Amino acid sequence: MRLERLRTLHRTDPVGIDRTPEFSWNIVSALHNTMQTSYRLTVDDGERVVWDSGIVHSDQQSFIEYGGSPLRSRTPYRWSVRVEDNHNGIATASAGFETAFLDDDWVGRWVESTIPRPQAEGDWGHGTQPPAVEFLRRFEIRDGFRRARLYATALGAYRPSLNGARIDDRELAPEFSVYRSRLYYQTYDVTTQLRAGDNELSVYVGDGWYLCPATRPLSHELRTMPAILFQLEVHYEDGSVETIASDGTETCRTGPVRSSDLYWGERYDETAPFGDPQPVEVIHLGYGNLVAQPIDPIRPVELLPARTVDTSPDGDVIVDFGQIIAGRVRVRIDAPAGTEVTLEHFEVRTVDGGYFNSTYAGQKDVYVSDGTPREYEPLFTFHGFRYVRVSGLPVVRAEAFTAVLLTTPKERTGFFECSDAGLNRLHENVLWSQRNNMMSIPTDCPTREKAGFTGDIQLYTPAAFVNEDVTSFLTAWLQNLAAEQRDHGVVPMTVPFTTPYERLSLTMSEQYGAEGVTGIAGWSDAAVIVPWEMYRATGNTMVLREAFASMSSWCDTIIATARDERGSCDLPEELDRHLWNTGFHFGEWLIPSQQQKNGDFETTKESAAYVAPFFGYRSIRLLADIAGILGLDDERDRYAAHAEVMRDAIQRVFMTGDELPTKLMGGYVLAFAFDLVPAERWQAYAARFVELIEANDGLLDTGFLATPYLLDVLVRIGRADLAIDLLWERRQPSWLYQVDMGATAIWENWDAIAPDGTPGVSSFDHYAFGCIDDWICREVAGIRAGVPGYKHSVIAPRTDTRLTWCSRSLLTEFGELAVRWTQDELEVVVPCNTTATVHWRGERHEVGSGSHRF
Ligand code: BGC
Repeated sequence: MRLERLRTLHRTDPVGIDRTPEFSWNIVSALHNTMQTSYRLTVDDGERVVWDSGIVHSDQQSFIEYGGSPLRSRTPYRWSVRVEDNHNGIATASAGFETAFLDDDWVGRWVESTIPRPQAEGDWGHGTQPPAVEFLRRFEIRDGFRRARLYATALGAYRPSLNGARIDDRELAPEFSVYRSRLYYQTYDVTTQLRAGDNELSVYVGDGWYLCPATRPLSHELRTMPAILFQLEVHYEDGSVETIASDGTETCRTGPVRSSDLYWGERYDETAPFGDPQPVEVIHLGYGNLVAQPIDPIRPVELLPARTVDTSPDGDVIVDFGQIIAGRVRVRIDAPAGTEVTLEHFEVRTVDGGYFNSTYAGQKDVYVSDGTPREYEPLFTFHGFRYVRVSGLPVVRAEAFTAVLLTTPKERTGFFECSDAGLNRLHENVLWSQRNNMMSIPTDCPTREKAGFTGDIQLYTPAAFVNEDVTSFLTAWLQNLAAEQRDHGVVPMTVPFTTPYERLSLTMSEQYGAEGVTGIAGWSDAAVIVPWEMYRATGNTMVLREAFASMSSWCDTIIATARDERGSCDLPEELDRHLWNTGFHFGEWLIPSQQQKNGDFETTKESAAYVAPFFGYRSIRLLADIAGILGLDDERDRYAAHAEVMRDAIQRVFMTGDELPTKLMGGYVLAFAFDLVPAERWQAYAARFVELIEANDGLLDTGFLATPYLLDVLVRIGRADLAIDLLWERRQPSWLYQVDMGATAIWENWDAIAPDGTPGVSSFDHYAFGCIDDWICREVAGIRAGVPGYKHSVIAPRTDTRLTWCSRSLLTEFGELAVRWTQDELEVVVPCNTTATVHWRGERHEVGSGSHRF
C-alpha cells in the first residue's frame, strides 16, 4: 500500500496560502478490498510539530481540516500522514505548503503611475486604451541569503521580472476577482533570481481586468491609474530577514506595449523606446481587501502548432490551428523595421473560407517590428480563436505560429474513449470548452464577454467535475460570489459583477417593474446549486458549511420576493405569495423554438413563467437538505416548510390539468427533475412530454436550464430509448450535429452554424450545453456516485449496439475509478477505501477496491 496525490486545499504544495489548510491523499494498493482503518497526520515547521492529530480511527482521507496551533505567517510547513489499512498495511508520505501573510504583515505602500492616462469611454472600450506602465525599483542585498519571497499585486494585470528575466510563467496576475473585497496577491519564490549586490525589480502593468472598461470594478473607490504593491522578504543564513517594499522610490515609464485590452487586443511596438522614468505617487488603499491567491495561477498549459495557412477568395491570409482555443498566438517575426503585423483572431470561417468575426470584441493584436527577428506573444490580453487572419507579413509560414492555451491549471480527472468517433470528438469538445473558459473564474465564452455568468457554471458544475478537479477553483469563485452578494443576498448575473452587466440588470429591472439589481432564476441560484454539486461530486461538506450564509441569504431573498411582490393578480394571494414570479428572468435561455421571437428578451418570456417558481423551489429544497447535512436542524425544518408550501402553490397553480400551461419541453423536464409532479399526474405528464418530443420530429427543444436534466428525466419516466436517441441524433439541434459540422468546442446556440455551413452570430466556445458529458459518464460509461463523493459507487453501463466498446475513468477523491466495457465483458477498477455495486447483464455484484472483470 502506498499514498499518493497528497493535496493541501486541493492543490499540490501551494506556496502562499492564507486559509486554514485542509488535507487529502489517495491510497493505492495491490490488494483487493483495501480500506483505511486509521490515519495520523502531523504538521511541522522544520523545528517543531505544530499539529499531531494522534491516531484517528477513521476512513476519512479528504477535506481533513488542520487542527493545530495557529500557523505562523510566511512560513514553510511540511505535513506527513501515516495510514493503516485493513490488511495491516502501513504507508507514510509527506507534502508541503507555505503560508503567506496571516497577520498585519504588509509594510509595502501602494504606488500609482503619474503618467497621464486618458479615460476610456463607454462600457466596452474601443481598443484604444493607453500604454502599459513599467514600474522599476533598484535595491541592494547582502550575500548569504537562503530564501527570498516576493509578495506582489497590482491594479491592472502585471508581469514581474528580476534583473531582466521573468520570475515565472504565470500570466495576467492578479487575475479576476471582486477587487473591492478580494484582490489577490501573489507569492513568488525568487531565491534563485536574486543576487548579492545590485538588483532591479520591474513590474510591467497592462490594463488587465481592473482597468479594462468592460471589467473594471463597480465600486466608487475605483482607481483609474495602474498601481502596484510589493514586498520582498529576504531570509539570511544568520536568521535575519530583510524587507524591500514598494515605498514611493520607484519610477515608472511607458514602453513597447502601446495599448492593451482584454477584448480588443494589444499593440506592441518594438520601435517605441521606453520613456524617461517618471515619479510614482504613494496612494492609500489599505490592505483590507488583499487575499493570498487561492487557486493555481493562470499559465500556458498547452501549445498547439499551426496546422495550415491558406488564402481566402477575398485574399485574406488565414492561419488555422485546427482547434478553438483560449489564449494567444506566439509568432516568430522576421521583418524589416517598421513592418506592422496584424493578427485578427476568430473562431469560424464563412462558407467560402473567409474571415468572420462572430463577436463584437476586436480580438486584434498588432506588432510593429524594429527589424530584429523575434518571437512575439502579447503580454496583457487573450482571445478565443481557431484562426488568425494575418496581415502585414510578406511571407506567412505555418511553422512560425503556435497557439498558447492560457487557463487555470487543474488536475485532469476524466478520460473517455469509445468505439464511436463522434462521441469521442464530443467529449474532446467539452473538455476544450471547459479549459477555454476556466481562466481564473468560470466564464461563458473567451471571446465577446469573458464574463462569470452564474447560470452557465451552475448548470455545468457536474460535468466540470467529471473532467477536472475544480474544487479549489470553484471554492474561490464562490467566495467571490458571496462577496458580490448585494443587500438582501441578491446574487447578480455575473460574478464578478461589472459595469455593463449592472447596467443591463438595472434596465431590465426598470422594464419589469422591479427596483435595483434583482436575482435571476437559474443564474442567482448558483449560490446554492454550485456548492451542492461540489458536495455531490466530492463529498465536500466544508464548502457547504462555508457557503451556508451566502446560500441562506439568497434563499431568504427568494422567499421575501415571493411574499412581498404580487406576480399575477389573477391568482389568489395565498398562492401567489409562495411563487417567485416577478422581475426579469432569462427563462431557460436559448430554446431553439423560441429563437425566432423578436424584441428584447421576447425569447425568454414563456419559459421564465415556470423557470422562476421552479428554481425558487429547487434552491430552497436543496438548502433544507444542506442544513440537514450540516446538522442545522432548525434551519432544515424552516426551509423544508417553506419548500413544502412553495411546492404546494406550484402544483395548485401549474399542475391542475392534464398538461402544464406551457407547450415547452423544459417545463416538463424541470417539473420531473425537481420532483414537482403530483403522483396522480405523473403518467399524463410523462405522456405529454413524450408527445412534445415526437411532435418536434424526435428532436430536443430545451435551453440552458432544462438541458442538463433532459436525458435523466427521460430515463426516469421509462423512456431511456428516447434519451439514447437524443444523444445519437445528428440532425439540428443536437450534440452530434455540432460535431458533424466540424465543431472543435461546444457551441453557445444549437443553431450556431446552419446546415449549409453559414455561421451565425454566436459563440462557438460555451461549455453550457457540454453538460451532456456528465450524462455520458453516468449512463453510457455507467459510473455513478452511489453516495456523494463516490465512497460507494454504482457501476451500471447502458450498453448499446451502437458502441462496441467504451472506456471511462474518473479520478475521484479516493483515486481512480475506471470502467471499460465491450458487448461481452466489463472491467471495473474500484479505488481503495471505497466499494461498488456493479450491475451487468441483469446481475448485481457487490465489490470492494481493486480490479474486477465480469
Ligand atoms: C452569455 C451567456 C449568459 C447569458 C445570460 C450571454 O450573453 O454568453 O452564456 O448566461 O448571456 O443570459
